[in-house]
Amino acid sequence: MPKLTFVRSNQTFDVPVGTRFLEFCDDHPGLHDFGCQVGSCGTCVLTLVAGADQVNPLTTDESDTLEMCTEVKGARLGCQLEIRGDCAVKPL
Ligand code: FES
Repeated sequence: MPKLTFVRSNQTFDVPVGTRFLEFCDDHPGLHDFGCQVGSCGTCVLTLVAGADQVNPLTTDESDTLEMCTEVKGARLGCQLEIRGDCAVKPL
């Protein structure tokens, strides 16, 4: 089972493969901030400190939103993230 680590709060959870990050955070309030929840506002932007290759690939829509809200390479939108292996996330 993948390990999902929240760097800011130094908490790690075992999550099933394919867990949607947004849904996990809905069940565990306070771990990460969200706004629109549909990939358009950029509130949920984060970086993968580890395991960038252990999540779903970036889509064109996600990339377009990221271009509007950050210049950080490798940034992702938490609301669009699916956990497939061990990873560690940190809000921007
Ligand atoms: S919550 Fe708005 S882009 Fe993710």
